[in-house]
Amino acid sequence: DAGKGEYDHYMLKEIHNQPTSLANTIEGRVEDGDVAFEALPPGSFDGIESVQFVACGTSYHAAMYGSQLVREAGIRADVLRASEYESTTGPVDETTLTIAVTQSGETADTLDALRTAADRGARTLAVTNVVGSTAAREADDAVYIRAGPEVGVAATKTYSSQAVTLALLSQRIAGDVPDATPADDRAAMLEALADLPEHVETVLESTHAETLAQDTLDSESFFFIGSGLGRSVALEGALKFKEITYEHAEGFAAGELKHGPLALVTEETPLFAVYTSGDDEKTKTNAIEAKSRGAPIVAVGPTDHPLVDVADAHLSVPETHPVWAGLLANVQLQLLSYHAAKQLERPIDKPRNLAKSVTVE
Ligand code: G6P
Repeated sequence: DAGKGEYDHYMLKEIHNQPTSLANTIEGRVEDGDVAFEALPPGSFDGIESVQFVACGTSYHAAMYGSQLVREAGIRADVLRASEYESTTGPVDETTLTIAVTQSGETADTLDALRTAADRGARTLAVTNVVGSTAAREADDAVYIRAGPEVGVAATKTYSSQAVTLALLSQRIAGDVPDATPADDRAAMLEALADLPEHVETVLESTHAETLAQDTLDSESFFFIGSGLGRSVALEGALKFKEITYEHAEGFAAGELKHGPLALVTEETPLFAVYTSGDDEKTKTNAIEAKSRGAPIVAVGPTDHPLVDVADAHLSVPETHPVWAGLLANVQLQLLSYHAAKQLERPIDKPRNLAKSVTVE
């Protein structure tokens, strides 16, 4: 318990550690407007034509984040549930880069997918937090997210460090793939990254997630929606919420809400709408649909968005490049889950039935 310091739980300590852990993740990896990974010098990805990410749980949501950025760079990228790798992978050969995203580097499903991909001829890369872990040893290459040890079963700081590492990796890969189209505003994106640790600090200091958790706790279900990068954050927000509160929570692509889940929406189902940029119309229109069915709407994102005007509450994040805004929204949702679980007196650091690392299939 001494390791918790001034905090009641490891989870809260780890949420508050993010300005530091993110600074460590970024350190030395952005140089002169370009991305550099010591283990992956230019040319490391020569011959790669497509990328597939394999992961489980929270790491899968970070992989979703990363895969979107690889696709935006003009490279084919899929994100696959490691436990379903056999049935969901397409053709794999030496032009495929399979990236295993795993905090522990020991998740059995992810290791199994990594081994299957390697057997089929793929080039493999582990993105992990643990130096010398099985994934790091077995993959052709390894990149460390440098989040520092995470004790709470619910992943927090490792998620944000994974997402940042993968965003940087997307630009590094694009540098080696002919015909790739690295982001036009890459320089602005990389420049904005330097401010991310400070922006997280601002969220930690200004959040009213605790009050909001109190105000919404007496509800039937908790829904989280988002589109694009916001979708992966919404899915992660719902996973975190159910893991530690034991309340029913689901995340959806914003546009999917009307294709089924809307039947569940009532005044007893608060809806957290995550967005990363001002032109996210889908999240706005679908949130309005839910609002007209009585659901309280919480906008989660920057202030400069039309959704803020229609929402009942707002968990705000500082203005930044859209690629990083989702990670700030995620910090708000981590705090929401934490405070909801605390008010419900759940064993936050060790939720029932869950393990930090699952080493069986
Ligand atoms: C377990 C943990 C999750 C984690 C998942 C993947 O289920 O409870 O928090 O996201 O494993 O773990 P990994 O170590 O592969 O990232």
